[in-house]
Amino acid sequence: MQKKILLTGCLGQIGTELTMHMRKTYGNDNVIASDLVAKDVPEVMESGPFELLDVTDGQHLAELAQKHKVNTIIHLAAILSGVGELKPQLAYNVNMNGLHNVLEVAREHDLQVFTPSSIAVFGADTPKDNTPQDTLQRPSTMYGVTKVSGELLCDYYHTRYGVDTRGVRFPGLISYAALPGGGTTDYAVHIFYDAIKHGRYESFIAAGTYMDMMYMPDALKAVTMILEADPAKLKHRNAFNIASMSFEPEELAAEIKKHIPEFELAYNIDPVRQEIAESWPNKMDDSCARAEWNWQPDYGLSEMVTDMLKQLQAKGIVRE
Ligand code: NAD
Ligand code: SER
Repeated sequence: MQKKILLTGCLGQIGTELTMHMRKTYGNDNVIASDLVAKDVPEVMESGPFELLDVTDGQHLAELAQKHKVNTIIHLAAILSGVGELKPQLAYNVNMNGLHNVLEVAREHDLQVFTPSSIAVFGADTPKDNTPQDTLQRPSTMYGVTKVSGELLCDYYHTRYGVDTRGVRFPGLISYAALPGGGTTDYAVHIFYDAIKHGRYESFIAAGTYMDMMYMPDALKAVTMILEADPAKLKHRNAFNIASMSFEPEELAAEIKKHIPEFELAYNIDPVRQEIAESWPNKMDDSCARAEWNWQPDYGLSEMVTDMLKQLQAKGIVRE
């Protein structure tokens, strides 16, 4: 069946690229982009339909799904970990009520749903290395609490109502098109801008802190793969660990130095985000995604760094 997709939160770090990826895959008019407010992203807002939508407004969400006769919702609207700790009530409202509204519309109109989970679903008691697909999940952040609840809600709507829910646990995503929206892994994006502009970066995450990361092209590929995966082969559906690289700030800096030899990394630790980072895995085991839908990434650390620097320079980011 031809996919007709409504994306929420499409003007953020992922949506800016995922909307264009989906329009290229399924056709511009078959991908309806939406966000809470308009932003200066003309490529996304003008290459196909665009609607203003607050996902906490379930009535409006239902109206838009019907107006555009969509059969799939890609739900990206959320408050991420760093902002979520500053505004936990907002994070709860957007992340929980937004997802619940999406699932209700999907239940009523028989829609497929993709929504991303995160490495934030794990907590300090979770095994840190080769973190299993099915393991202890006791996160300490509001973001993590809403993401674990989201995984369970998506499972519930599938088993109870037959809604075709699917999802992955994204690592920290690294990209050049849009800046990240207030997460703990954002340092691994900001470092590239400062390396090019100033030859120096002050990391808010401490040396030695490993986290899973992924380059955006692999994340886009994962969304298409899981949406198109044979449902008969999916045992986990909503919360697949997917991984491609894990590093700590010094290792990323060393890779950047290969291209910018004068680059210097310094530290100005943010205690809130450092504590969050320490509660997340060092490296996830993604063997279930590999076995159930043939997941395989294309980019490792050195390929990602080479391409990020090239793309940012092509975008006009230069030494100041
Ligand atoms: P982002 O912060 O860059 O973008 C989120 C978008 O949601 C923004 O454009 C914002 O305007 C919009 N939004 C906020 N409140 C809204 C509301 N009430 N109604 C409608 N839109 C609203 O986030 P992102 O990085 O693009 O993340 C998208 C999804 O992917 C989230 O669910 C996030 O948890 C998940 N994720 C992201 C990463 C990452 O590294 N970027 C990693 C793991 C999971
Ligand atoms: N990149 C996200 C964050 O740091 C992980 O979900 O919040």
